[in-house]
Amino acid sequence: MRRRIIAGNWKMHNNLSESQNLVTKLVNELNNQNINREVIICPPFTSLTEVSNLLDGTKIELGAQNMHFEDKGAFTGEISADMLKSVGCKYVILGHSERRTIFGESDEIINKKIKQALNAGLIPIFCMGETLEQREDGITNDVINNQVSEGIKELSEEDVNKIIIAYEPIWAIGTGKTATPEQAQEVHKFIRSLLRENFSENTSQNIPILYGGSVKPNNAEDILAKEDIDGALVGGACLDTDSFVSIIKA
Ligand code: PGA
Repeated sequence: MRRRIIAGNWKMHNNLSESQNLVTKLVNELNNQNINREVIICPPFTSLTEVSNLLDGTKIELGAQNMHFEDKGAFTGEISADMLKSVGCKYVILGHSERRTIFGESDEIINKKIKQALNAGLIPIFCMGETLEQREDGITNDVINNQVSEGIKELSEEDVNKIIIAYEPIWAIGTGKTATPEQAQEVHKFIRSLLRENFSENTSQNIPILYGGSVKPNNAEDILAKEDIDGALVGGACLDTDSFVSIIKA
């Protein structure tokens, strides 16, 4: 059976004390509960060390929201994979649409980052998704096909099997508009077919594919019930512990 995962992307929210409060609440809420999903949270860089300490001894795992593709060097303002590992990160979100659109990250850069993360022993949460215009033009599958093939270019099948994929239609991120469960399922199934074509049936069945884009307590259950949807990457709703916990339990 595939892994079931709920990941929270805090984005640029929460200073140190706010992070401490949010994590403490989450740990208390999930403590002693029988949760059958893996839970990952991705705070901003400045909170990673503290959140890592607070998560010690819990089942919640830590991820970062970005990293640079070089080992080290004169890259002012950047953070390396090794730095993330050294503060307890196991995961890193790569290729998020906000990185692609606001910060101009290309498929090539994302591919380099994915390779670097894997080399360092971090698990990429590799994001992809189409714009509203692309969906309306009927080219969603072409866009996804391109993002998948460019993103995992030159990776071995073994490495590809370590990755988590997140399908996040850009028009659904932070907008309150969600893809219908059927729309999401269709793309997830398509991503699996690409993995089958490029690698094997085993790989296509093994890789967890999360849905992201305005996942809330009131829509999580229907989305997560779909066959090829193995979890969610949650933005806005993960900043509220009650909402996040109810998605985790959905
Ligand atoms: P959202 O963000 O849940 O606020 O739409 C999801 C994401 O960007 O990962």
